[in-house]
Amino acid sequence: MRVTDEDLDAIPGWFDAIDRELFRWFLGPGRAISGPGNLAELGVYMGQSAVLLGGFLENGEELTVVDLFESEAGDTANVRENAESYPGLSREAFEANYTRVHPDLPHVLQDFSERIVDHVAPGSCRFVHVDASHLFEHVRHDVVAAEQLLGTAGVVTFDDYRAGHTPGVAAAVWEAVANQGLRPIVLSPNKLYATWGDPTPYLSGIARETPWWTSETQSVAGGELLVLSPVHHESYRWIKYLPPAAVPLAKRARAGLATLTKR
Ligand SMILES: C[S@@+](CC[C@H](N)C(=O)[O-])C[C@H]1O[C@@H](n2cnc3c(N)ncnc32)[C@H](O)[C@@H]1O
Repeated sequence: MRVTDEDLDAIPGWFDAIDRELFRWFLGPGRAISGPGNLAELGVYMGQSAVLLGGFLENGEELTVVDLFESEAGDTANVRENAESYPGLSREAFEANYTRVHPDLPHVLQDFSERIVDHVAPGSCRFVHVDASHLFEHVRHDVVAAEQLLGTAGVVTFDDYRAGHTPGVAAAVWEAVANQGLRPIVLSPNKLYATWGDPTPYLSGIARETPWWTSETQSVAGGELLVLSPVHHESYRWIKYLPPAAVPLAKRARAGLATLTKR
């Protein structure tokens, strides 16, 4: 079932255009590389990204999501994080948003994110979205859970891996890259996509330039990865109205401007 941007925009959340397109690629064409498998999300909030995941289930595949919803977190820092960032969140609100788009709910667990491993078979997933607590100790557990859930060629994506207010995510994710065999594939401004398998087939499949991003290849910890820079939608709206022959030049000018204005 095709989930549109209008479906997603009707749900509160922070899911960028660039990541919506990357999800669509990894979950659609990328399935030829990962192979079939289940989907999982750690941290759903109101359901924006879960609703997109639910649109890519093929025969026999299942989506499992886990969130604390109204339940109290186990430690003070996590309690504070949730109270400050997600006031008004309820399981009911998530489920209502989800069923406005899909006829059936996914498997919904109201629990600590890392407990997902008690409910989803090891090695059964082709895609795992980690977007629950941003605190170092929690994300470390989520890294371990994601590795356990994924099949050999499966893909994990971590939200807020480089946001200024979430150093715990950055520390846990890059620790996994440096010491635990996690191999980054592509970095968007908000999410890092990686695998414990071989990133090469994914790297060959991802478009280097699209209406949403330009890219450059970099090397980190002995592996190549793609770094994406967003093409802002406002300027892309302009580009759409140019004669086709002028589009490549306009895009190069836009990318040049983005480089000049980068901090
Ligand atoms: C950033 S939001 C998720 C956003 C969602 N993936 C989206 O794109 O719309 C983080 C969610 O993680 C949940 N959360 C925070 N700490 C958690 C924990 N320790 N275990 C499970 N869920 C947690 C919060 O309740 C919140 O709903």
